[in-house]
Amino acid sequence: METFFDSNDDGIGDFQGLIQKLPYLKQLGIDCLWLLPFYPSPNRDDGYDIADFTAVDPRLGTLDDFRQFLMAAKQLGIYVLIDLVVNHTSDQHPWFKSACSDRNSPYREYYIWSDYIPQGQHKTIFPGEEDNTWTWSEQTGQYYHHRFYREQPDLNIYNPKVKEEVRKIIKFWLDEGVSGFRVDAVHILIQFARPDHVNGQDHEAILDDMRRWLDECNSSAVMLAEANDDIDKLPRYFGNSDRMHLMFDFITNQHLFLALARNTAQPLREAIDILLKVPIPAGCGYVNFIRKHDELNLGKLKEDERNEVFEAFAPEEYMRIYGRGIRRRLAPMLNNDRARMEMVYSIMFCLPGTSMIRYGDELGMGEDLQLKGRESIRTVMQWSSGNNAGFSKASAEALPYPAIDKGTFSYKNINVAEQLREESFLQWMTSAIQCRQQLGATTIDKFKMLESGNESVIVFRYDEGSKRFILVHNLNDMPASYALTEDIGAVMCFFGPGILGNNRELQLGRYGYAWLKNI
Ligand code: NOJ
Ligand code: CA
Repeated sequence: METFFDSNDDGIGDFQGLIQKLPYLKQLGIDCLWLLPFYPSPNRDDGYDIADFTAVDPRLGTLDDFRQFLMAAKQLGIYVLIDLVVNHTSDQHPWFKSACSDRNSPYREYYIWSDYIPQGQHKTIFPGEEDNTWTWSEQTGQYYHHRFYREQPDLNIYNPKVKEEVRKIIKFWLDEGVSGFRVDAVHILIQFARPDHVNGQDHEAILDDMRRWLDECNSSAVMLAEANDDIDKLPRYFGNSDRMHLMFDFITNQHLFLALARNTAQPLREAIDILLKVPIPAGCGYVNFIRKHDELNLGKLKEDERNEVFEAFAPEEYMRIYGRGIRRRLAPMLNNDRARMEMVYSIMFCLPGTSMIRYGDELGMGEDLQLKGRESIRTVMQWSSGNNAGFSKASAEALPYPAIDKGTFSYKNINVAEQLREESFLQWMTSAIQCRQQLGATTIDKFKMLESGNESVIVFRYDEGSKRFILVHNLNDMPASYALTEDIGAVMCFFGPGILGNNRELQLGRYGYAWLKNI
């Protein structure tokens, strides 16, 4: 929000700015928006440290602006998901301030306290930036628990009063009219973190509670989990269709990058094969993505695999973060290689599940590695070659993060205005999303992975009624071919540079792809 478009030229993106840009998003083909936290926050963690769960950060607008935005989005047929961050609060939240002021505060047990630093506990999520998960609170002489920064004390989710607060937050925003929530750090939220229960079971029942509360308020609302967990643990997030509706697919994401590093389809095929064995209950599914606002997390790869991805896409130490990730956007990782960028997003659009893109990725925006930590990938949206990339008329110092103004990825080269005019990546992305709509809901029950006979090439098939789609991608920088042997009658290529010959042999150039359908 704060980096998308500034309507009043104070340097901060805001709801009114977002309203102005809704037609742009609609034109691109977006039908659902996920808003990062927009609540009052000291901004230690880019808004993920919340000081008031049911208000709008005044820098971004008012609750009325939010309502206007929601109405405008609805009119355009765009759903809105917002972030539900209830693993922790800001240390500036009145609950925590009260809890810290007195051991007898009614809010004391909203948080997790200990007289000592317990052994054998979970590690910090931000190694190098935050090295402890227990921080001493001087006022009341105890340690409090936090998996993220010390300014983000963890809520004691086992406390019925905290559960009641979470229920109220869910109800508040659903009553406002949002379509659901992206639920922050669910894999952390359910971990047991009490000093007296070092090896306690994960607290999965909270997922049942949350779903019940959600359904009670609005049975058509959805929850999308950020659950970066091991494959064998994924089923618990869906439950029996009675927990999270959706879950980001971190496994495929990381293996796709391994496949790219190796210029072969094999790691991607293996990941999809394994994932297909995880049962997906009715009404549930994955959300696929290439990059998000966080680091490219490679934590689920084996160490040598992770090193291969580092070597390929983050050769310098300063491009990496937390020992497990890369703080870069896709376009610079791929040296702005248009064919390869198209192929990567094309694969994402063809994976079973929902597709998600992040602002700026439709232009092939870059990163600013001079900024610290994850800030490198949070620079302002590049609208034009005007001042501050057309994001704001304020002075550059007033911006949350500076616009990228040097090199290939400078806003002078890469911006919306420019890309509306030419054969641009933005135009490509718009067409890809349009064609993606032809595929319909790419649910797993319609999906099959076919043998390609070539380790560089991955082939998906979807069957729906009488419709057949064959989606072919070449992950190698050498041309490849694929002989279409499937018995699906006459076919045509409706998207991609691949060329289908009369002999049903598909010719793919370097990083080529083709979306075929029966006719
Ligand atoms: C996950 C968010 O994506 C990340 O940006 C944030 O730092 C943590 N959760 C903590 O809320
Ligand atoms: Ca503003």
